[in-house]
Amino acid sequence: MSKRNIRLFKPSLDNEEINAVKKVFSKSWLGLGEEVNKFEKEFCKFINSKYAIGVNSGTAALDLAVKSFDFNKNKNILVNNLSFVSSASCIVNNGLEPILIDCEDDNLGFNINDAKKKINKNTVAIVIVHYGGVPANLKKIIPFAKKNNLKIIEDCAHCLGVKYLNKKLGTFGDIGCFSFEEKKGITTGDGGMVVTNNHKLFSNIKKNRWLGIDKETWIRKNDYTNLKSNNNKHWFYKINSLGYKYNMNDLAAAIGRVQLKKIKKFINKKQIIANKYYKFLSQCKHVKLSFEYSNQFGAYWLMCIRVKERDKFIKFLKQKMIPTGVHYIPISNLDYYKKYKSSTPKTDRIWKELVSLPYHSELKIKDVEYICKMIIAFYK
Ligand SMILES: Cc1ncc(COP(=O)(O)O)c(C=O)c1O
Repeated sequence: MSKRNIRLFKPSLDNEEINAVKKVFSKSWLGLGEEVNKFEKEFCKFINSKYAIGVNSGTAALDLAVKSFDFNKNKNILVNNLSFVSSASCIVNNGLEPILIDCEDDNLGFNINDAKKKINKNTVAIVIVHYGGVPANLKKIIPFAKKNNLKIIEDCAHCLGVKYLNKKLGTFGDIGCFSFEEKKGITTGDGGMVVTNNHKLFSNIKKNRWLGIDKETWIRKNDYTNLKSNNNKHWFYKINSLGYKYNMNDLAAAIGRVQLKKIKKFINKKQIIANKYYKFLSQCKHVKLSFEYSNQFGAYWLMCIRVKERDKFIKFLKQKMIPTGVHYIPISNLDYYKKYKSSTPKTDRIWKELVSLPYHSELKIKDVEYICKMIIAFYK
């Protein structure tokens, strides 16, 4: 039995994160507070956006993003069919209909030609998923959205730090939504961030991440005990909208601040690993890389390949102690979402070939070599 312990995904954490958490413990303020505020400021600087709002997941970020536009209930939103369910659940949770869009053959992203066929008079927005960390075809999507007066929400769960046309993804549309779930570019355990340059959307999202309350406790806390303060209404707040309990907390933010400082290192390591995979796999005629792995954008999130006889392939690698995944079962194949099924022939065909290979910044080159060797062995 092999002693290899290859992980499909693995967060990269060390004492720096532990020390940051210790500092939060010593302050005894674990909830929404100054750490979240600092993380938001640092995130704005990193992404180059005016505003950032820390939340407790990428799903929460998307829910709040859709909610912030206050669309009428009979409207619909275009979204990739090949994505994680949160890309569509944010639409349904806000009382709207998701229109599921096919993928592109060459990068599995949002297929603009399919969107042009499916848009109708009730379409109000697009949730664009930058699938696997590859920028969607924004040169075509943005003019299409402008022409049709559609809002753009970028689902950036896979693409933290990815640059396109000299700008970070997440800043092309009205709102960008990031995930810090444990497998993502950086992690806070669970967590997320919403970014926007629009003050109205920012205020709406900020208030609704904490139940619609208009003043956060950490800002009011000095008035509780400050003898110099004449304010004896420090406890007072207003609520004029229906919000969620979606805020990030200081423990998560402390981890996130350390992780964000390391993002360049993570990206560099992943590029080296991607290059290694690419070199091997582009020579294997039975394996098709799902997108062209080049270093031009930054890091990819997935090492996603396409193979025939996928299930046999997965079983073989499992016997060799190599974990694999499938990203994703198309949303229209999930029981609850079958009612939204529309024609997405490329997605229906391609998803059956998809396999995700181990890919993270902690993966060793000798493990990549072993994985590639085993893939070649399967075809022999
Ligand atoms: C494309 C996409 N969008 C949204 C999410 C949701 O993020 P979270 O798990 O942080 O809620 C994910 C998570 O895997 C995702 O892959």
